[in-house]
Amino acid sequence: MKIAREINDIREIVVGFKHENQTIALVPTMGNLHLGHLTLVKEAQKHADKVVVSIFVNPMQFDRAEDLKTYPRTLENDLKLLEEANVDAVFTPTPEVMYPQGLGLQTYVEVPDLANSLEGALRPGHFRGVATVVCKLFNIVQPDYACFGLKDYQQVALIKEFVKDLNIQTKIVEVPIVRHEDGLAYSSRNNLLNQAERSIAPRLHAELMKLGELIKQAPTAEIPNIIDATINAIDLKGFKTDDLTIVDADTLSPEISHSRRVVILISAYLGKIRLIDNLVVERC
Ligand code: PAJ
Repeated sequence: MKIAREINDIREIVVGFKHENQTIALVPTMGNLHLGHLTLVKEAQKHADKVVVSIFVNPMQFDRAEDLKTYPRTLENDLKLLEEANVDAVFTPTPEVMYPQGLGLQTYVEVPDLANSLEGALRPGHFRGVATVVCKLFNIVQPDYACFGLKDYQQVALIKEFVKDLNIQTKIVEVPIVRHEDGLAYSSRNNLLNQAERSIAPRLHAELMKLGELIKQAPTAEIPNIIDATINAIDLKGFKTDDLTIVDADTLSPEISHSRRVVILISAYLGKIRLIDNLVVERC
């Protein structure tokens, strides 16, 4: 497995792959890898001859300096996992490599409608940071495919949008949420839960599933009451719900009276840890 820290080094590796007529899939990550990330790698291997994983804790997408400081960095173990997963190359730049002029760039990738609603409204600047760094990674690696998890539903929608709008040729592969057996979605943040919180955490998914069943058939006018009741149920289990919204699964618009596919997006605190999850539901 090749490891590159500089842009020129990863470009040289990619040029080597392309000279051999090999297709390339990129899996962008912020490290602290778990089964969710490794499932993206497996999916990438199905699509392309060579898989490149990037590990970069992107300062531009953190709206709170504290979160950036405390984000778990476990590079040595990550590299071991990627080697075992037969990844071909890893790009691990520093912030100075990605942002030589600091974060006061003159150019950003903005997707205003998708970036400023829902999760974006709660985390100003977050999605601008995501879109900008992913666009930079696409330009550096020039992948034929790039894999993203549906765990971050709004993130995938935003990436598909700018890829379409900016005529980027990379094909976006969406990977379903990978969960523990008890239903909790894999996340780097799960490691920060104490034992009691970890035992409560799967109930978020359980409530999401119940809500999914209810809204399959419920008239649109009844949905706000059903949402309120679900928030109460979730909070009674020991969470503090941050946001629970149902939007059209394709446009992320809150106008769902004619939507056949909707997505329930939820974020909730368990102690100090904010968990997110989602569920796509086909309405009858
Ligand atoms: P990160 O949180 O490290 O996630 C990297 C990729 O793994 C994302 O596409 C995310 O959706 C996916 N992922 C995480 N947990 C998952 C799970 N349980 N099931 C399926 N996929 C999962 O998302 C980011 O990093 C960053 O915003 C990034 C795209 C790398 C840009 O900096």
